[in-house]
Amino acid sequence: MTKPALSLAADRDSRERPAIVTVESLRFAVTDRRGRRTDILGGVDLALSDGEFVSIVGPSGCGKSTLLNFISGLLPVQAGRVEVFGKPPGSGRVGFMFQSHGLMPWRTISANVELGLEIAGTPRAERRERAGAMLAEMGLRGFEDHFPGELSGGMRQRAALARTLIADPDIILMDEPFGALDAQTKVFMQELFARYWNNHRKTVLFVTHDLSEAIALSDRVLVMGARPGRIIAEHDVPLARPRDFDRLRSHTLFNDLYERIWADLRREASAGMRGREP
Ligand SMILES: Nc1ncnc2c1ncn2[C@@H]1O[C@H](COP(=O)(O)OP(=O)(O)OP(=O)(O)O)[C@@H](O)[C@H]1O
Ligand SMILES: [Mg+2]
Repeated sequence: MTKPALSLAADRDSRERPAIVTVESLRFAVTDRRGRRTDILGGVDLALSDGEFVSIVGPSGCGKSTLLNFISGLLPVQAGRVEVFGKPPGSGRVGFMFQSHGLMPWRTISANVELGLEIAGTPRAERRERAGAMLAEMGLRGFEDHFPGELSGGMRQRAALARTLIADPDIILMDEPFGALDAQTKVFMQELFARYWNNHRKTVLFVTHDLSEAIALSDRVLVMGARPGRIIAEHDVPLARPRDFDRLRSHTLFNDLYERIWADLRREASAGMRGREP
């Protein structure tokens, strides 16, 4: 039974645990063909503890996806420091999920979910078994042999989530994973992922434009400012888990947090309109 969890979390020790993702003074600039330089990231600092769920919100173009690309090792660090488990990124077990499901239309759902294990050389029978278990956890039992085109948008996104989680990543990077879904399906996915997280307590860095989603899912919400991107505010979410998503939105603390984060974003947007530089 789900405990109606609108009390404050008693145990808030996760940040005392050692950081497993560390980003320090991360800067990133691009230079166009005419030699004009644009600063994209202007000194990002953040630390994620083992088992912490952290969201990032911020205006479009502030560099959220770019930051995830640095942590996953897709982009080489120009200036500053990025470490995952004390090493340069790219070596640990990191799962990535995007807004678009990215499933291959010619592979069955199970074959899509198994892909990472297949590349890693996991035997076929074990792959099939693990994919079946993961699809069942995502509520997709019985759809193993269907093709992506035969599933609804929400089901495809659940399959994409299963594909991300099947390799049992230690860190999960999510870039607006539920951003393209309708409101109801979105809440369903949030609850599904919150349940998974409550059971497995992975370290998650979750990018979203949806403040309610950020608060409902996270231990901490980081606000990123635009041009050049950096963390301008941080808000703890001291709500006990598991959380009752239906009741969260009428909770005073939830609404206070929403207003405070929204005020940060609004201040940032008006600073952007006035222009930060002389
Ligand atoms: N390799 C690159 N070359 C040129 N410009 C880049 C590069 N990578 C990112 N940018 C620019 O950096 C800025 C940040 O992009 P990014 O996609 O990280 O923003 P975002 O915060 O994820 O935005 P959104 O919320 O719209 O997804 C954008 O202005 C983008 O055009
Ligand atoms: Mg983005």
